[in-house]
Amino acid sequence: MVSPVHLTPATVRVFRQKIYRYYRQHGRTLSWRKTRNPYHILVSEVMLQQTQVERVAEKYEEFISAFPDFKTLASAPLRKILQVWQGMGYNRRALYLQKIAQAVSDNYNGKLPRQLDELIKLPGIGKNTASAIAAFAFNKPVAFIETNIRSVFIHFFFCDRDSVRDNEIMPLVEKTIDTENPRKWYYALMDYGVMLKKTHPNPSRKSAHHQKQGRFEGSNRQVRGRIIKVLTENPNISEAAIIKRLGISPEGVKSNLDQLQKEELIRKKGNKFNV
Ligand code: ADE
Repeated sequence: MVSPVHLTPATVRVFRQKIYRYYRQHGRTLSWRKTRNPYHILVSEVMLQQTQVERVAEKYEEFISAFPDFKTLASAPLRKILQVWQGMGYNRRALYLQKIAQAVSDNYNGKLPRQLDELIKLPGIGKNTASAIAAFAFNKPVAFIETNIRSVFIHFFFCDRDSVRDNEIMPLVEKTIDTENPRKWYYALMDYGVMLKKTHPNPSRKSAHHQKQGRFEGSNRQVRGRIIKVLTENPNISEAAIIKRLGISPEGVKSNLDQLQKEELIRKKGNKFNV
């Protein structure tokens, strides 16, 4: 049994000072931090779930220009959305974004809901993403953990521990949050976490939830990405033609086509596939 970390008011003060001092000197300027538009912030947070900041920075503006609001995204052809999403990986998120846009248009009068319990109901939005959106779009003092935030808390408060669980970290996130400016506080925490990863052996390896992303080269994830690309460029294509284009085993293509159909990213009509 490990005893919970005890935080005194002085510890909280010193911790906040350190995080904010770093942020004042080294905080990152990122396009999605310059906006308060809930739609723009939603798009950025879904992109940042599984894609690195540098790649998101290249894609975010393009996506927003192509689909400037919920209404445009809701009615766009999936093929066009996937074309713009190209290079981001985890294509299911592009479909989720469209489903969210449709839900917001249909159920919330075109306005992203502000309540956490409503945000969580949206497709593909878990508790952490919903909370990040509430903090960044609406400046709400909600506690959440993502990879960089996790690193910061482990570094400061669990440095001699292994297998730290998020439910041990969460009370500290709640007690240290700057309720005056949650948005700025989370920017600062994230930037500190990024710095730690560059200057220390990654603190997240001490997390019970740490997952190294699997190898991309030769993975099913890579095959699915290639299938989506082929289908966006070649409407009405047969399985045989897809296999020929990808140059990999028919079984590998078949199982991934099945998977993509289950995820509703692609459709089969007769013996032809389409996104
Ligand atoms: N700024 C706002 N949200 C962010 C995120 N999820 N990752 C990095 N920087 C961010």
